[in-house]
Amino acid sequence: MVCCHHYQLLAGCDEAFRVDGQSLVFGPGCLSEAGAHAAGLGLKRIGLFTDKRLTASDHVGKVLKSLKEAGLDVAVYDDVAVEPTDESFQSAAAFAQESGADGFISVGGGSVIDTCKAANLYASYPAEFLTYVNAPVGGGVPVPGPLKPHIACPTTSGTGSEATGIAIFDLLSMKAKTGIASIHLKPTLGLVDPHVTHTLPKTVIAATAFDVLSHALEALTARPFTVREKPADPAARPYSQGGNPWSDVIAKEALRLVGEHMVAAVTDADNIEAREYLMWASSLAGVAFGQAGCHLPHGMSYAVSGLVKDFKPDGYPQDIPMVPHGMSVILNAPSVFRLTGPHAPERHLVAYACLGGTYEAGPSEAGEAVAEHLIGMMKATGIPNGLQGVGYDSADLDKLTDGAFPQKRLLNLAPCQVERDDLYKLFEGALNYW
Ligand SMILES: [Fe+2]
Repeated sequence: MVCCHHYQLLAGCDEAFRVDGQSLVFGPGCLSEAGAHAAGLGLKRIGLFTDKRLTASDHVGKVLKSLKEAGLDVAVYDDVAVEPTDESFQSAAAFAQESGADGFISVGGGSVIDTCKAANLYASYPAEFLTYVNAPVGGGVPVPGPLKPHIACPTTSGTGSEATGIAIFDLLSMKAKTGIASIHLKPTLGLVDPHVTHTLPKTVIAATAFDVLSHALEALTARPFTVREKPADPAARPYSQGGNPWSDVIAKEALRLVGEHMVAAVTDADNIEAREYLMWASSLAGVAFGQAGCHLPHGMSYAVSGLVKDFKPDGYPQDIPMVPHGMSVILNAPSVFRLTGPHAPERHLVAYACLGGTYEAGPSEAGEAVAEHLIGMMKATGIPNGLQGVGYDSADLDKLTDGAFPQKRLLNLAPCQVERDDLYKLFEGALNYW
């Protein structure tokens, strides 16, 4: 299988890829099964993570009710930060340690699920905070072993965090977004209830669906694992191992689902079926990028969201300016795929076809075909017109470039080498699209 052209084995490079097991329960109403699953894992006392906006929600209510019905004790932690930091991770870890919980449930978006992963890690294997953080920012020390059971219940159809071993946060001392990545951080079970999508505002559906789309597209076009140096010890194989035949299968189906259902899910609030398909696509894309990794659109997104000026999108809390994660990702994407298309044209053509592209594009048009298709979807779903649409202009290009260039873990998974000048041009190309 790995002898096909894209995964040609090269001297000195890796020859094997990892396929992680995945435990998900997917279906309408399945949040009510949380208690049964927790009891099935042998848990007696649960540490439940959520955030203050969700504490009184139906989603948390359903989970708490099912835990009570299963006769389990619960301690609730709802101080999860909207944008988690090293400080908020450590506060959550202190709770996890002091709660006496023998397992955890997270109910929320990516911030909540990621915080629960980190809290579980530092409560299970206490260490100085930077120990497990990705190198070179942190020590990059491998997580020593399995953590306590964690059931992740996503309440948006975007992050796919229930299917990955990645926890992202802001390191305050460096004003940089980084993360911890390990197979041991992956939740024991993802409990994915598509009912949660029914009440999401359409701007949230659009932003989260573009996050899903980009997870899948970046996984499909990520640098192949066969061009990464072979690790001396298999245990040192990076969690984000690069594109591989398994992530390809999953990414293609996620792209097909988003291509088919996204515009309908955003523009027709009554189209419940389309929204529910996006929830399934979100978990699939999580599996794909958990196996392969993401690259440039995500690496650039952290600067776009971190340097926000006064943009306040409809459908989100209006107390602070923000560029929602999925929006900050997709605003870069057409510019990125115009650059990367010539470096892996067949991959881009496959992505274009999965998304529903209809015209006969040749290899030389592959990147442009993907870019134009994305721009069409952005227009159809009310996404702002490039970085200018969320308040940036050409005077910001250096700051955006400086903000994204340290994201080596992501930049190095792009299908081509990207230097600072290239990154500057990518941001410039993302200023506006129509
Ligand atoms: Fe993402």
